Amino acid sequence: MGKVYVFDHPLIQHKLTYIRKKGTGTKDFRELVDEVATLMAFEITRDLPLEDIEIDTPVSKATSKILSGKKLGIIPILRAGLGMVDGILKLIPAAKVGHIGLYRDPETLKPVEYYVKLPSDVEERDFIVVDPMLATGGSAVEAINSLKKRGAKSIKFMCLIAAPEGVEEVKTAHPDIDIFIAGLDEKLNEKGYIVPGLGDAGDRLYGTK
Ligand code: PRP
Ligand code: URA
Repeated sequence: MGKVYVFDHPLIQHKLTYIRKKGTGTKDFRELVDEVATLMAFEITRDLPLEDIEIDTPVSKATSKILSGKKLGIIPILRAGLGMVDGILKLIPAAKVGHIGLYRDPETLKPVEYYVKLPSDVEERDFIVVDPMLATGGSAVEAINSLKKRGAKSIKFMCLIAAPEGVEEVKTAHPDIDIFIAGLDEKLNEKGYIVPGLGDAGDRLYGTK
């Protein structure tokens, strides 16, 4: 059964406050999203397996640990998920990056898929699907469906802000998935926006609208 983790690290919470503020401009917003993605990646990789190797330090021989070659994949949901990729790659530069393009139909709020490009060895990788916002949950559920349909076996979902409705939707559709959240908010409004949220993540990242 998948678990839900809400990160309470003070640095993550502090930066999230500035991400939420409506006066935060595009440049600062983008930098803060990047920084929080790095901090979340630090927490999310806590369970990566290690192995011992023999090394020489300037002083003596030693047995020391390295990551034991786990194959990782990062899957941003376009567009807004792209804002989190570089922050994660700073810590795990060997990860491959796939892309899933989805937009939420403004009338129905249902996700519409327009692009999928994944690493070729999908079955062997551990994936982290990233998107700043988990609102109704439609986009996350669809992206995870898309990955599973192509053979992915190990998937985590990571977002900055989630609504309770979206968390329930993902848990119901994909009970095997762990969900990692920086801020769990109150609710969705009548337009499907997270309250208090941060507004439209894609528009704030890229200065559109
Ligand atoms: C936003 C956000 C998520 C989705 C969340 O993307 O980045 O992908 O909405 O909403 P949901 O949980 O109700 O599906 P949007 O559709 O606005 O596309 P964009 O990233 O291209 O702006
Ligand atoms: N997508 C966003 O960008 N923001 C929301 O609050 C909900 C969906």
